Amino acid sequence: MHNMNQVKMLEFQQIGDERGHLVVVEGGDDIPFEIKRMFYIYGSDPDVIRGQHANRNSEFVLINVAGTSKVKIKDGEGNEMIICLNRPHTGVYLPTMVWKDMYDFSEDSVLLCLASTHYDAEEYIRDYDEFVRIINEE
Ligand code: TYD
Repeated sequence: MHNMNQVKMLEFQQIGDERGHLVVVEGGDDIPFEIKRMFYIYGSDPDVIRGQHANRNSEFVLINVAGTSKVKIKDGEGNEMIICLNRPHTGVYLPTMVWKDMYDFSEDSVLLCLASTHYDAEEYIRDYDEFVRIINEE
């Protein structure tokens, strides 16, 4: 399965005036799914690696609404890409069944994650070898 080619950068419109900036993200419109869940990650040290999983059913959009971080995406077939999240009006769309590592968090990083599903621990694959096995079975 080559879901990694569905990864894409998203540019959201900045609505700015003398009062500052406003960015709107509407499910099914600005991003390719209806938003069922959001969570955000902050206070992670620069040497921490988060994520380290793939999801059978969940799609995500990640946006660094403050600060910066990186996400490394792997397809389980030897291909990988690294995305730098460094602007509050830019996101990355992550399809199902890609491996992701989030790292290089700046001290002020707030990483907003929008998800297409409610949380279900069962759909997380947290073992990389298992992920590779599943990818190769498909
Ligand atoms: P984890 O998946 O390790 O976070 P990340 O991949 O973003 O670094 O989640 C950390 C803990 O939080 C883990 O015990 C599961 C729990 N959790 C929820 O209960 N609901 C959620 O939506 C998420 C993302 C995590």
